[in-house]
Amino acid sequence: MSITDAQREHVRRELPQIAEIGDTDLREKVVEAWATALAGSSFNAIAEIPASGNPGMPTLIDGTQADHIRGVTQLAMLIGDEMQRQFPALPIDRDLLVAGALCHDVGKPWEFDPVNQARWQAAPGKAGRPSIRHPAYGVHICLTVGLPEEVAHMAGAHSGEGELVERSLENTIVHHADYAFWRVAGAGGILEDA
Ligand SMILES: [Fe+2]
Repeated sequence: MSITDAQREHVRRELPQIAEIGDTDLREKVVEAWATALAGSSFNAIAEIPASGNPGMPTLIDGTQADHIRGVTQLAMLIGDEMQRQFPALPIDRDLLVAGALCHDVGKPWEFDPVNQARWQAAPGKAGRPSIRHPAYGVHICLTVGLPEEVAHMAGAHSGEGELVERSLENTIVHHADYAFWRVAGAGGILEDA
């Protein structure tokens, strides 16, 4: 699969928080991860993916999946920066935190893809329904583009899968930022049933 510079540029426009990552190599691999995930799906943009936490769950009434990724990243930075200010001893790696927040749902183009959804719906006994959830597929994408295991861990264990392991410090922040995003949105009445 070949990725074009136009696809990379589109990812940078959808996720301006990428510029918060200081390390050039890490920054470019985050771009590559999203461009690769989108190129292997029916979606051309993160904003085209339904704006919910999982397929079939309530969606943002006025917002997109890109708003979710940007919002979780902003929340993760706020939590991380404030805790770091209060407790300088906390060993938060801010670059990894931002990269992990940006990539936590990088498997969603696969799990939400309407072509995949239709296949799994038609024959759950063949490959499963879904065959692979977005956290596991996100790990595949992260490792394929050469992102470090710390970022792959956030993709793979930000959600329920993380209950089976001990989350890293940065992933603990991303996990709570992610859940806070959906729970605050739900409590505030800005989600509608899919
Ligand atoms: Fe998320």
